[in-house]
Amino acid sequence: METVVSGIRSTGNLHLGNYFGALRNFIKMQDAANCFFFIADYHSLTTHPDPTALHGNVRDILAEYLAAGLDPEKSAIFIQSDQPQVAELYLLLNMHAYVGELERTASFKEKMRKHSDNVNAGLLTYPTLMAADILIHKADKVPVGKDQEQHLEMTRKFARRFNTKYGVEYFPEPEPYNFGADLVKVPGLDGSGKMGKSEGNGIYLIDSDKDIRKKVMKAVTDSGPTEPNSEMPEVIRNIFTLLEIVSSPDTVRYYRDKYADCSIRYGDLKKQLAEDIIAMVAPIRERIFEIQADEAYLSEVARMGAEKARESAAKTVAEVREIMGIKRF
Ligand code: TYM
Repeated sequence: METVVSGIRSTGNLHLGNYFGALRNFIKMQDAANCFFFIADYHSLTTHPDPTALHGNVRDILAEYLAAGLDPEKSAIFIQSDQPQVAELYLLLNMHAYVGELERTASFKEKMRKHSDNVNAGLLTYPTLMAADILIHKADKVPVGKDQEQHLEMTRKFARRFNTKYGVEYFPEPEPYNFGADLVKVPGLDGSGKMGKSEGNGIYLIDSDKDIRKKVMKAVTDSGPTEPNSEMPEVIRNIFTLLEIVSSPDTVRYYRDKYADCSIRYGDLKKQLAEDIIAMVAPIRERIFEIQADEAYLSEVARMGAEKARESAAKTVAEVREIMGIKRF
């Protein structure tokens, strides 16, 4: 059976990008694979979250995982820091990660630009911690959105380098994965490209119907096509990309035809998109609120998941120590 590993940072509530890029695939994969899904609280420390807010953020994402359909009987659902073995594997992998390649990582360069006052070593070695998360369970597949592609390439490189250095076929080279399709990039509706927590353009799984309508109706548009079959500008393409993700093929075709013959009314398109997002989000949102209130259930899920994860992680770390020549007296 294949092993699947993925995680989401505890930096705020989950939005449609997290859901369609990652979480929806987690749920689809849990019946057919040996799954480990976690909340990356160590990774979130790179941007120094308020210590009094961190646990609440972790808890919110745990509730969101469960509300969206992750099943603790099928998957190990755990908090990254509850599996401390990952910190040891991170240290060991760092010995084979070169500063030059870490500095060239696109996400590091972007963080340098945005947070030039806080370029810490955790940010630089973010890809090695991520590789440790994945390799510690010897994953074959990693469901992630398009923005994580380069990190996965680095994980494969670290796995390959380790195997070559020690002359072993130990770590598999994990593939980024999206169920039956290319990796997804969910756009924002403000014309800025990606939907993201830090971009401030998220539509969240906990948003009310009213908020969703407001956000979608505010989506940037233009004055509309004036010639039949004209090319779509990016802002309109983004709306259609979201429509393709949440709406039925008939709906998409209907609006595409309207765009092609210049009879489209963006107000109608946005109303339809908002209602289709609401139909998908509302039942998840209701479950999030129910689960958030059940502290005992959340604790039990985290405890069970940590137990499963630690068992698998401890085995890998013991084997890696052996391979690298670390022996106990
Ligand atoms: P994070 O927390 O930024 O995002 C979590 C997941 O959501 C996906 N995602 C998107 N997908 C499509 N369109 C979007 N607009 C969008 N925004 C976010 C991300 O691709 C990701 O899959 N480094 C990871 C967390 C992590 C991890 C790991 C993932 C730590 N260790 C090991 C996989 C395996 C991150 O920052 O995700």
